[in-house]
Amino acid sequence: MKYSKFILLIFVGAVLSIGASEAKKAIEKRIAPVVSVCVQGQDCGTATVEVVAASSGGRNGEDVYTNACATCHNIGLAGAPKFADASSWGVRPDKGIEALTASVKNGLNGMPAMGMCMDCSDDELTQAVQHMLDSI
Ligand code: HEC
Repeated sequence: MKYSKFILLIFVGAVLSIGASEAKKAIEKRIAPVVSVCVQGQDCGTATVEVVAASSGGRNGEDVYTNACATCHNIGLAGAPKFADASSWGVRPDKGIEALTASVKNGLNGMPAMGMCMDCSDDELTQAVQHMLDSI
C-alpha cells in the first residue's frame, strides 16, 4: 500500500509537470513576437532566435532594393538601368557584381553614394545588386 501511494504521487506529479510545461509553452508562444528577450539561463529555443534575427536588421536584397533603390531603378530615373529591363542594362552586367556594387558604394553620376541606403553594409548592397541582376 505504501508503494502504491508513492507511485500515485509520482504519476500525479508527472501529469502536473507536463501540464505546467504545456502551459508555459503556450504562454511563450503568445508572447514570443512581442518579447524577444532571452533570460539568462533559460532555454530560448530556435524560434526565439529566429524572431531576434528577423527583427534586428539582416535585410535581404529585395528589402534593400524596395526601400532604397526602387525610387530610381523602377522607372529609370536620370538614366538609371531599370529593374527587370535587360536592354536598359546594356553591357553593365559584364562588369561583374563586385564592380557594380563598388559603383553603388561610391556613387556614379546620377546615383548618389550608397544608392541612398546610408546604413547599408557592403553585403546588403551586394545583395541588392544581385536582386537587380536576377531580374534581368
Ligand atoms: C537617386 C537615384 C538612384 C538611387 C536611389 C539608386 N540608383 Fe543605382 N543608378 C542610378 C543611376 C542614374 C544610374 C546610372 C549611372 C550612370 O551610369 O550614369 C545607376 C546605376 C546603378 C548600377 C549600375 C552601376 C554600373 O557600374 O554600371 C547599379 C548596379 C545600381 N545603380 C544599383 C543600385 C542599388 C543597389 C541601389 C540601392 C541601394 C541604387 N542603385 C540606388 C540612380 C540611382
